[in-house]
Amino acid sequence: MSNFASRSGAVQTVLAFETSCDDTSVAVVERDGRVRACLSAGQDLHHARFGGIVPEIASRNHTHHLLPLMEETLARAGVSFQDIDALAVTSRPGLVGSLLVGLMTVKGLALASGKKFLGVNHLEGHLMAPFLYDDQYQPPDGFDFPFVALAVSGGHTTLYHVPSFGHYQILGRTRDDAAGEAFDKFAKRLGLGFPGGVRVDRLAAVGQPDRFNFPRAMLREDHDDMSFSGLKSHAAREVEKLPEAQAAELARHAKDFLASGSRDAQSGLLADFCASFQAAVVDVLAARLERAAERQGVHRIVLTGGVAANSELRRRCETLAARRGWTLAVPPLRYCTDNAAMIGLAAIIRLGRGEASPQSLSPQAKAPLDQEDRGVG
Ligand code: KG4
Ligand code: ZN
Repeated sequence: MSNFASRSGAVQTVLAFETSCDDTSVAVVERDGRVRACLSAGQDLHHARFGGIVPEIASRNHTHHLLPLMEETLARAGVSFQDIDALAVTSRPGLVGSLLVGLMTVKGLALASGKKFLGVNHLEGHLMAPFLYDDQYQPPDGFDFPFVALAVSGGHTTLYHVPSFGHYQILGRTRDDAAGEAFDKFAKRLGLGFPGGVRVDRLAAVGQPDRFNFPRAMLREDHDDMSFSGLKSHAAREVEKLPEAQAAELARHAKDFLASGSRDAQSGLLADFCASFQAAVVDVLAARLERAAERQGVHRIVLTGGVAANSELRRRCETLAARRGWTLAVPPLRYCTDNAAMIGLAAIIRLGRGEASPQSLSPQAKAPLDQEDRGVG
C-alpha cells in the first residue's frame, strides 16, 4: 500500500502484540503493510469445556505464550529486536486482564530498549486488515478508502463507514448478540461444543437451508442495526419442540460428528438445522451490508472478523459484489480473526504521524471506534 508508505515517516518496522481476548499473537509488519511474520496461539481447547471464554484462564495463557511467541516471530521474520523501530499493542477494547498482559509486556520492552510504543484500538486493527499483504494474500486491485466494512466476530457485529484512515462512522450494529455469539450458542444447543460456528458452517454445507423458516429480524426497518437474539431463541425452541426420539437422534449425531469430524453419515435434521440457521444469519448480514454501502454511495466493501470465515457469508458477499460491480476485500482467515499484524499496521501509520503512548497508558474494556478522539487527519 504505497499511499500508507508515504505517510509513515521514519518508522519502517514494528513489532506488534495482540492479547485482547483469547488469542495470543505477535507480528512483524512493515510500513507498506507487508507482514514479515505473524504467529498466533489460540486457546480454544482450554476454554471449550467451560462453554465460553474464562477471562482468568485467557490471561494466564497469554503470560505463558507471549515471550516465546515473540522470539519465534522475530526469528521467522529474520530480524532481531534491535532492528525493530517501534512497538505496538492492543490496549482497548477487550478483557482487561488479557489486555494487561500485552500492555505490560510492551511497556517493559519499551522501557528497557528506549523504543516508542503505541496502544491501538483493536477495532481499528480489524478495519486495517484488508490492507495487509504477504506471499499468499494481496488486497484486491484498486482497494483503498473509502469503504464500508462489516466487522463480525464472537464479540462484535458492526457496520462501519471508513472514508479515510482514522475516521470511523458506525452505521449500524447488533442490538443484542454478536453474530458469532449466536452461532456459538446455537451450536452449543445442538451439542456441537464451543466455539461451534465453524462446525455449523461445515454441517450447513450438506443441509437444506429452507427446512426451517427462522426469523430475519428488522430487515424491513429503516436503519442499519441488526438483532440475533430472537433468532437464537426461536431456533432453540425448535430444537426443544422435537419429539424425544428425534432429539436423541440429533444429540447422537452431534456427538458422532464431534468424534469423527465426518458429516456424511449425519441425519438430515442436524445439517438442516445448521443450514437454516446459517441462512438466516447470512441473509441479515448480507442485506445490511448491501443497504449500508448503497446508502453511503461507496463501492468498496470489507468483510472482517472471525465470522468472515463462514463459507456462505463469503459466497454471498462475493455474489453481491459481482452483481453490484463493487470491490470486495476479505482478508484471509489469519488476518480476519484476532491477530497482531492488523494492530501493527494501524500502529505504524499512527507512529509515522508522530503519535506514541505514554508509560501511564491503561487498558480499556470498552472503546467504541467512533469515539476515538486523537486528532488524526
Ligand atoms: O474474531 P474471532 O476469532 O474472535 C472474536 O470473537 O473476537 O471470532 C470468533 C468467532 C466465534 O464466534 C466463532 O464461532 C466464529 O467467529 N466463527 C464462525 C466460523 N469460524 C469462526 N462462525 C461461523 N462460521 C464459521 N466458519
Ligand atoms: Zn477481534
